[in-house]
Amino acid sequence: EARKPFISGNWKLNPQTKEEAVKLAADISATVTDDSPDSDVALFVPYVFIEAAMASAGDSLMIGAEGVCPEIKGAFTGAVSTAMLDSVGVKWALAGHSERRVIFGESDEYINGQCLKLIEQGMNVMLCIGESESEYNQDLAGAVCAVQLKKGLAGISKEDMSRVAIAYEPVWAIGTGKVATPEIAQSVHATCRSILADMYDQETADATRILYGGSVTPESVDDLMKQEDIDGALVGGASLDAEKFGRIINFQV
Ligand code: G3H
Repeated sequence: EARKPFISGNWKLNPQTKEEAVKLAADISATVTDDSPDSDVALFVPYVFIEAAMASAGDSLMIGAEGVCPEIKGAFTGAVSTAMLDSVGVKWALAGHSERRVIFGESDEYINGQCLKLIEQGMNVMLCIGESESEYNQDLAGAVCAVQLKKGLAGISKEDMSRVAIAYEPVWAIGTGKVATPEIAQSVHATCRSILADMYDQETADATRILYGGSVTPESVDDLMKQEDIDGALVGGASLDAEKFGRIINFQV
C-alpha cells in the first residue's frame, strides 16, 4: 500500500506572540482544501501555543509538540511530559532534531527515551536524523543515519513503527537555503529505508514514512516529492509564511 504523504512544519522559537500563532495556524489551515493532496498535515509549535493553535487550526491540521521530556513526572524543572501533551490532545511530537542534539546536548539515549515514552503513551513520534556538513563531505551520511536510527528506535517494536515517522534532515541544509538535491535526498532516503528493513523487515520499511527536511520551499517541494522514497517534508522557515507553506502543502507531483 502506498505511503500517505506527510507535510509538516516546525515553528522552532517562533512566532513571538500568541496572536501571531493563532493567525498563522488559521491561515495555514485555510490552505488545506478538498483539492489538496491526501496527506497528513501537521505543525510542530512551541508548547505554550499548542492549545491556541489547535483551536484556530481546525481538523485539517494536526498540532504537535517540538519535544517532550523522557521522564514521566517529578523533579524535572522546565520539562513537559507525554501525559501532559496527551491530556491536551497532542498526537505527535518531534524527537532528535539536530538543534536539540547540538544546541541542547540531547543524546541518542535521551532521544530514544522520548520515542519510547511517546509510544507508551499511545502517541506518535517524528524522529529526526541527519549528518553534519563534515560528515557529508566524508561520505558518512548513511553511516550517521544508521547509528541515529538504531539508537533512536531501540526497543520500539515492529508493530509500533506504524506510529513513527522519520525526518531526514541533513544539518548542512537546515536554515541555510542549501536544499539537498532531489537525487541526494532520494539516495539517503533509500539508504534509510534499507536500514529500517535490516532493523525490522521490508514490509515495515516500506510502510514507514521518511520525510525530507532542510530548506524546503515552494520551489523545491515538487521535485523532492516526486522521488520514490521521499514521503513528505519537515519545513522550518517556510512554515512561518502561510502562503509559502500552503504551496508546500499543495505540492504537485
Ligand atoms: O525542522 C525543520 C528543519 O530544521 C528545516 O528548517 O526549512 O528552515 O531549513 P528549514
